[in-house]
Amino acid sequence: MDFGYTPGHSVLHDVTFEVAPGEVVALIGASGAGKTSIVSLLLSYYDPDAGEVRIDGHRLGRFDPDSARRQVAAVLQEPMLFNASITENIRYGHLEATDAEIQAAAAVAHAHDFIVAFPDGYDTVVGPRGSALSGGQRQRLAIARALVKNAPVLILDEATSALDPGTDTKLLQSLRAASANRAVLLVVHRYSTVSYSDRVVVLERGQVVEQGTQDQLWPLVVGTRSSHRAREALPAIRHVPIRPAHYSR
Ligand SMILES: Nc1ncnc2c1ncn2[C@@H]1O[C@H](COP(=O)(O)OP(=O)(O)OP(=O)(O)O)[C@@H](O)[C@H]1O
Ligand SMILES: [Mg+2]
Repeated sequence: MDFGYTPGHSVLHDVTFEVAPGEVVALIGASGAGKTSIVSLLLSYYDPDAGEVRIDGHRLGRFDPDSARRQVAAVLQEPMLFNASITENIRYGHLEATDAEIQAAAAVAHAHDFIVAFPDGYDTVVGPRGSALSGGQRQRLAIARALVKNAPVLILDEATSALDPGTDTKLLQSLRAASANRAVLLVVHRYSTVSYSDRVVVLERGQVVEQGTQDQLWPLVVGTRSSHRAREALPAIRHVPIRPAHYSR
């Protein structure tokens, strides 16, 4: 796809990648690279200037709007919560969801334990824009909301950025286990998050400059063959220069 918000000012250039059902793909790139713009196109907030989004081989633009919305669940960079109960906030993802489905989604999102620790549990009112919760708690409710929708495509745009690395890791593990048939796109900065993906797509200034498994990309990232010490030490992939696409394992 090619895409720009204003004519003559292109943001994405010839971006192509696929995510298969059951696969977790990490989309990584520096701030401003165009990651959220890709998410907006997947959500049909905008139409690409050239190219198309296809789900199961069908052009997204061909779905009727309701059906297009059912295909993709997303947790955006700034989760939107309402001044209502936790149950109602999660149910917003799928209005017919049962309480059991809501609790199952909250469990996968590692939210169940902190929710039941509140005196009012799932009936706790979260305050305007979720202000009575911590940033990481808000993010986990937003993930539970996206999960309860049970869409074939799930997108998390920096959706675990406020979680400590241990919680982030556990959440991504259970998300994986709960996504056997789902195509999952993780928009990330932190390398620790990349390690829960099957493949990595590296975006630089609106272009895909690398695609591959972590093993294929890791030597590019550290400039050497895989080293656990370097992996531990690396706080974020964006601080590391990405080399051109000549490396093959
Ligand atoms: N609504 C908009 N209108 C005009 N330009 C926009 C809009 N949203 C983003 N842009 C521009 O598009 C480019 C890519 O932005 P995008 O939000 O996709 O980056 P990103 O990779 O998600 O960055 P970050 O890691 O900071 O979230 C930036 O130059 C940005 O200024
Ligand atoms: Mg973004």
